[in-house]
Amino acid sequence: ENINTVVFENSTDASKEVAQEIAALIKEKEKEGKPCILGLATGSSPKGLYAELVRLHKEEGLSFKNVISFNLDEYYPMEPNSINSYVRFMKELLFDHVDILPENAHVPDGLLTKEQIADYCHEYEAKIEALGGIDLQILGIGGNGHIGFNESGSLQNSKTRLVALDHITRVAASKDFFGLNNTPRTAITLGVKKIMEAKRVILLAWGEGKANIVKKSVEDEVTNRVPASFLQEHNNAVFVLDKEASSKL
Ligand code: GLP
Repeated sequence: ENINTVVFENSTDASKEVAQEIAALIKEKEKEGKPCILGLATGSSPKGLYAELVRLHKEEGLSFKNVISFNLDEYYPMEPNSINSYVRFMKELLFDHVDILPENAHVPDGLLTKEQIADYCHEYEAKIEALGGIDLQILGIGGNGHIGFNESGSLQNSKTRLVALDHITRVAASKDFFGLNNTPRTAITLGVKKIMEAKRVILLAWGEGKANIVKKSVEDEVTNRVPASFLQEHNNAVFVLDKEASSKL
């Protein structure tokens, strides 16, 4: 194995453990008088994590006043209030239930004009850099090994940009969009470079449907066909798995 893996009995236990790590980091940064810069992901994998963070806020007083977050990606084009927008996803699962300042919770803007995208992406990265980079990046993994929306073929030094979604990614998303015809063809994603620059990376994967791609990412060669395999070259990355997702390791 070329990436550290931690296997839990189920995704609930795993999510609780990751939430504890995040809570500890937030508190540590607070003591240092520094903001905690979190990279956040969407998809089904981090849902349990966000539920646990909300619980820690409500029941144990964990504060997010000191947190500045940057989401990985957003469909393009996308209205922020649309049922499938990642802005809405993050508000409903996390931001609306904790005390993060709205101006500190960044999600790529799906409403830009084509002409605005390049400058916007540059600015998104510049904001992260000005804060000293991402302290902890949460990731899911696509069935094809994508991270964020860095699909197969994405380069290890790729920047934040507009990307074309793979057919297989669109098929996976099409159930949420009531059919492939309504499913966006493009998205804005944080590039692989900024993900690799994060001081700590935690990738979450649950279920036997992820077992093959987890195995490829962790044990097979580093290749841009499987962008998650780049994490083999990260010095502080971990795959947090349930038993099923780890079954091919
Ligand atoms: C989408 C997201 C990714 C996510 C992936 C996996 O493509 N843009 O960031 O990792 O879905 O989703 P899930 O966690 O539902 O398997």
